[in-house]
Amino acid sequence: MLTSLSPNAPAPPRINPLVGRLRSSAIRDMLAVTQRPDMLSLGGGMPANDLFPAQRLAEILVRVLDESCDLALQYGQTEGFAPLRSWVGGYESARCGRTVGGEQVLITSGSQQALDLVARTLCSPGEAIVFEEPGYLGALQALQASGGRLVPVPVDEDGLDVTELAGRLAAGLRPVAVYAVTSFQNPSGATLSDPRRRALAGLAERYGFLVIEDDPYAELYFGDAPHPPVRTYSDNVITLGSFSKTVAPGLRVGWVVLPPSLAPHVVRLKQAADLHASALGQVAVARLVEDTRWWRAHLDTLRAGYAERAAALTRALGESLAGRLRLNSPQGGMFLWGRFVDGTRAAKLLPLALERGVSFVAGEEFFTRPGGHDTLRLSYATNRPADLAEAARRLACAHAALGDLS
Ligand SMILES: Cc1ncc(COP(=O)(O)O)c(C=O)c1O
Repeated sequence: MLTSLSPNAPAPPRINPLVGRLRSSAIRDMLAVTQRPDMLSLGGGMPANDLFPAQRLAEILVRVLDESCDLALQYGQTEGFAPLRSWVGGYESARCGRTVGGEQVLITSGSQQALDLVARTLCSPGEAIVFEEPGYLGALQALQASGGRLVPVPVDEDGLDVTELAGRLAAGLRPVAVYAVTSFQNPSGATLSDPRRRALAGLAERYGFLVIEDDPYAELYFGDAPHPPVRTYSDNVITLGSFSKTVAPGLRVGWVVLPPSLAPHVVRLKQAADLHASALGQVAVARLVEDTRWWRAHLDTLRAGYAERAAALTRALGESLAGRLRLNSPQGGMFLWGRFVDGTRAAKLLPLALERGVSFVAGEEFFTRPGGHDTLRLSYATNRPADLAEAARRLACAHAALGDLS
């Protein structure tokens, strides 16, 4: 417990207001509760433990430590492990149909770090930056910490509302960047339609802003691969990617493809932040993905696994909360996005759900201003289908208990 300061106690340090004002992530705050053994978590966007390529990684790590200590345990270049940079360059070139050289790629400690570095490089205090709403909480934090002034633009079932954005630009808005998760968005699961991708690229060129295209879920599609990325249609795009959802987040390996004018600044900021991303993680990932046959088969396993889980949770909630909860139908990624049609406020439901051993994130957490009270995000990724059915049952019990209280 804090006691009152003695007269001679030093004054508490002055905190940079940008940091002092930062909102804590509701998801990370909930981790302690959601890690309780009896808890079925639909809260965090955690990949499935049982789908990690643990055996394959174990074999690779033994070999790497045996043969390549100089690469894997030594300090490395800030830009990243060259073979991994060139693999990412090849991957991004194939996606957008234009050459992306490895030298344009910076390997980062997860794509979260890329977001932080890019935001701090671009934003002077008060600079406008468009944030899709509801949007990814980690981006909200990184953009706010950079001192940028967040301008929310809504997301609908086709992703960021580009018509609304165009209207705001025509009315005089001049953002330095527009942030968007273009495929299987976190939290809504929406994918930016192809016409909107083209229109967003056109607006970026016309008004001279950068699109920060955050695409960590692109490979987790259930049917068809997502549309070509916004980068296909413009150079005014910063592309963020990650191995967190396809290999393992604990490795902390992500990337950013940067326009040449920005790259040296972001690299210097990364030097100041952490010198480089984990060399061991980068070498391990490079060895994993270079085996193309294995990598394709692994991605197919993930896609099938997550599609099965999405269907299981959708089915179970459709039965247990029929007529009360309307759900999106995700075509990929990790999230169901629901809206209560009976006036239930998700934040009020949450404590009752936690008591019954199931967690989720209230949708209002993903908004910059009050809104989305009747919405919630449910991740199907972490649990197996049988557990998802039980989670839906617990959620329905919590919902019934809330009804009894009101
Ligand atoms: C949209 C989005 N971007 C970025 C990240 C950060 O991922 P990482 O730093 O693990 O690559 C996440 C993580 O959940 C995410 O959902």
